[in-house]
Amino acid sequence: TRPLKVALLGCGVVGSEVARIMTTHADDLAARIGAPVELAGVAVRRPDKVREGIDPALVTTDATALVKRGDLDIVVEVIGGIEPARALITTAFEHGASVVSANKALLAQDGAALHAAAEEHGRDLYYEAAVAGAIPLIRPLRESLAGDKVNRVLGIVNGTTNFILDKMDSTGAGYQEALDEATALGYAEADPTADVEGFDAAAKAAILAGIAFHTRVRLDDVYREGMTEVTAADFASAKEMGCTIKLLAICERAGDGASVTARVHPAMIPLSHPLASVRGAYNAVFVESDAAGQLMFYGPGAGGAPTASAVLGDLVAVGRHRVSGTTGPGESAYAALPVSSMGEV
Ligand code: HSE
Repeated sequence: TRPLKVALLGCGVVGSEVARIMTTHADDLAARIGAPVELAGVAVRRPDKVREGIDPALVTTDATALVKRGDLDIVVEVIGGIEPARALITTAFEHGASVVSANKALLAQDGAALHAAAEEHGRDLYYEAAVAGAIPLIRPLRESLAGDKVNRVLGIVNGTTNFILDKMDSTGAGYQEALDEATALGYAEADPTADVEGFDAAAKAAILAGIAFHTRVRLDDVYREGMTEVTAADFASAKEMGCTIKLLAICERAGDGASVTARVHPAMIPLSHPLASVRGAYNAVFVESDAAGQLMFYGPGAGGAPTASAVLGDLVAVGRHRVSGTTGPGESAYAALPVSSMGEV
């Protein structure tokens, strides 16, 4: 069988793990897909950095030329951010490749247009890694639960803030002290704004709401409130009420099911709720649906290897489609359920 040619855009924490697993698990991947996968090129920003296990001849700084090659089956985008990722993904579709992306910001902003581009060219766009790292969520919502009716998706989708809140809860520490520890341990970035102000969780909420309710929700539709104002005193009062505080992404049907809302804010939850026991930097998403009832998805929501696991799962799914000449559900699978902008609640 002809090998499937895969280009990797980005070779940081996630990309290097993807490349490593593609090599170490090559035989298993070939067996699952029905064709071997071949790393055809790796686009990086800093070519001089030593990348163990990657043939230097495959490394290029010209990502645009790589996606224009015309012989690629799958482009894996793990650069993040809006541009150049958006232009590269669009160009990849135009040149016949399917795309696997881990880019939550881009999918939350431009998911509809990118899906439409994929469909126009008869290609796949998969992005399991964009929400909650290793935890399977996109495919379960898009495929396993597609015959059910999901009513609510409630989740802890940011590990950094869960680590900070958990620290505050278990030690009585204030926000700043807990943030400093998260930074020292490498959970929080030097600039923690995207995490602590809820932007990261809001992007994930937009993606989850769109998939769960078969509609389109953009980042701007999501009401967002960060967790920087939560104090040790808030935790003390929560405890008195048998509760803890979590930064939650809440996506639900509104107006008797006629529309959809999505929001991110700190919320008190009873200690008896399964989400209360999600500790440290873990993520968990609670799904309520008509027929299935209550489901919870739990696991590591970030990190090189867990995120690579989700990327590789997509690579197998998309690879199988390339072999059989099909695609997964595309833009036309989404009905136009109106989105109620949350504005200020
Ligand atoms: N900053 C994110 C988190 C990484 O803390 O969960 C995964 O998107």
